[in-house]
Amino acid sequence: MKTEVCNITEDTEKNAEIYRKAKHVIKSGGLVAFPTETVYGLGANALDPEACKKIYEAKGRPSDNPLIVHVANIHGAEKYGELDDRARALAKCFWPGPLTIVVKRRAGIPDVVTGGLDTVAIRVPAHSVAGNFLRAVYLPVAAPSANLSGNPSPTTAGHVLDDLDGRIDMLIVDDTVNVGLESTIIDMTGEAPAILRPGVVTGEQIEAVLGEITVFAREDAGEGVPRAPGMKYRHYAPKAGLFIVCGEKAKVTAVINRLAAEEEALGKKICIMAHGENTGKYSCGKVIGIGRDPVEAASALYCTLRQCDEEGADVIFAEGFEEKGVGLALMNRLKKASGGNIIRV
Ligand code: TXA
Ligand code: MG
Repeated sequence: MKTEVCNITEDTEKNAEIYRKAKHVIKSGGLVAFPTETVYGLGANALDPEACKKIYEAKGRPSDNPLIVHVANIHGAEKYGELDDRARALAKCFWPGPLTIVVKRRAGIPDVVTGGLDTVAIRVPAHSVAGNFLRAVYLPVAAPSANLSGNPSPTTAGHVLDDLDGRIDMLIVDDTVNVGLESTIIDMTGEAPAILRPGVVTGEQIEAVLGEITVFAREDAGEGVPRAPGMKYRHYAPKAGLFIVCGEKAKVTAVINRLAAEEEALGKKICIMAHGENTGKYSCGKVIGIGRDPVEAASALYCTLRQCDEEGADVIFAEGFEEKGVGLALMNRLKKASGGNIIRV
């Protein structure tokens, strides 16, 4: 299959032609990758089980990992999910935006999308290209991140092509993906609102709207199906071994310098992911600045992990971030990428 790559530009006529093409591909049961404000998504008609099956094939994704349904606005969401007053309040406050809301599912969305659950995850993305695409298609679009399963999520069109060129029909390019981490997922179907995946919409922001405490769902629910099935898989992983070093700044730098020197002496290629202001403090390895604060670092994280792979890194050392606000989501992804390799100093 040839993947048609279409660039969004200033030319509105040409853009309209791209959206018409995308609509045609989606209606014919094909796959279109498109930018959102979080990461690129890989979309198919959410009402067409055969089309949605192709998403799993293209990504190599386990079939028990359900997809997020993307719609253009809250009316689209109400058609496919039962939003209660609390869910509606969240939608009004955070949509369009990087919040996915899990609600009871209505008839229409097939089992292949929900993994057979009686709930559905819905989101209205804020990216203008995603919005235009969804309005043009005029269908709900099931879309996971547009990467091969297990790889870091794609924040540029180049990342999408690295993983999926020749496996999907079309890619709409607009590299203004700015959040850089996948949406926050909140489950509104239990007694308390439960955050299944942290993101840039924080628990504090959600509590401020709902006036009630949100809980963090345990990732491994023990028996049976975990509440966000996708969270049980190793995710976001670079090819190199990744170690996160957390603690007081001066100690973190000293420990990374020591460990990196030891590994280098063994002939290993080292990458160091450092906070912006610390990049000058390392004496070996390839040092990559990942931003001065968690928001910048979130935006750069997946790109940096892929860059480490391109550098041919054997081992990556990453400075940790404080786990509050966006730092919580950032550390959640870093920890997953590291497979739990955390060094506290
Ligand atoms: O920012 C995002 O959310 C991006 C963009 C493309 O919108 N999408 C994304 O999709 O990250 P994906 O497939 O990589 O992650 C979807 C997550 C998985 O962990 C999945 O298990 C969970 O959402 N999920 C989907 N439906 C669910 C449901 N009904 N209940 C609980 N979790 C669900
Ligand atoms: Mg994903």
